[in-house]
Amino acid sequence: MKNIDEEVRKFWNRVAADWEIQVGDDGDSNRILNSDPVLWEFLGNLNGLVVLDAGCGTGYLSRKLAAKGAVVTGIDLSEKMIEIARTNAKTTQKIDFLVDSCSKLEKVTSNYFDVVVANYVLMDVPDLQGTMNAFNRVLKDNGKAVLVFSHPCFPQGRATEMEDSIEVSYTWSFSYFEQKQCVDPPWGHFNSEFIWFHRSLSDYWKAFKSSGFEIIDFEEPRIAEERVHLAENERKLRKSKTRPYSVVFKLQKIRNL
Ligand SMILES: C[S@@+](CC[C@H](N)C(=O)[O-])C[C@H]1O[C@@H](n2cnc3c(N)ncnc32)[C@H](O)[C@@H]1O
Repeated sequence: MKNIDEEVRKFWNRVAADWEIQVGDDGDSNRILNSDPVLWEFLGNLNGLVVLDAGCGTGYLSRKLAAKGAVVTGIDLSEKMIEIARTNAKTTQKIDFLVDSCSKLEKVTSNYFDVVVANYVLMDVPDLQGTMNAFNRVLKDNGKAVLVFSHPCFPQGRATEMEDSIEVSYTWSFSYFEQKQCVDPPWGHFNSEFIWFHRSLSDYWKAFKSSGFEIIDFEEPRIAEERVHLAENERKLRKSKTRPYSVVFKLQKIRNL
């Protein structure tokens, strides 16, 4: 696992500056159009809560969490991401940004957080079970985890869309039920390949249960009527209306490990 962690860390260091371009201060269009409303609904009122932004990247979400009154710690495996997050942090917001691995959380105290949020992170961690166990450890009793991650049934990097039609095909070169480290070609303005880890939905579900969580909510985000005007073009709107990019789980810690 150590070598894979290292490979993943190097990869995210390599793309950190481009990731900052991708998400900026508000997240990319998929988040704005589709998953953010579900994320904020599942998070609820954060005022005064102690929140861990696990896999915080460049820290834009940490800043939004802090603006809603949460006391925020952001951790990320990539030093470059944390460097950018620290540079971007507002002087008026005191957010702790730390280099740490989700599957270890060595710098984070046990039974400390009210909420753990992981926004588009779980498909990127090499060790899912270790990550969920660590989330359990750092949460207080009955603490919540809100987990947004790429939908394992609709891998965006393997989608071929038809022009002017809702038709799309996904290329699978391996079994959906196999857990697999994947490498996708560069997309958008990125010039690096992307490393991620495929697991079936039921594998995620089992990891959540076996790490002491109960699943209390689940959604496959799609565009809501009041956000339609934010879609940059017809293609994006069509995609947001017809297929989920992501899944969102809300979990509650029901036992210590
Ligand atoms: C798709 S990015 C999302 C970043 C951020 N949450 C956002 O919404 O912009 C995935 C992030 O997870 C981080 N990451 C991947 N594996 C990790 C691990 N094992 N521990 C901590 N962070 C990890 C990467 O460095 C990267 O910043």
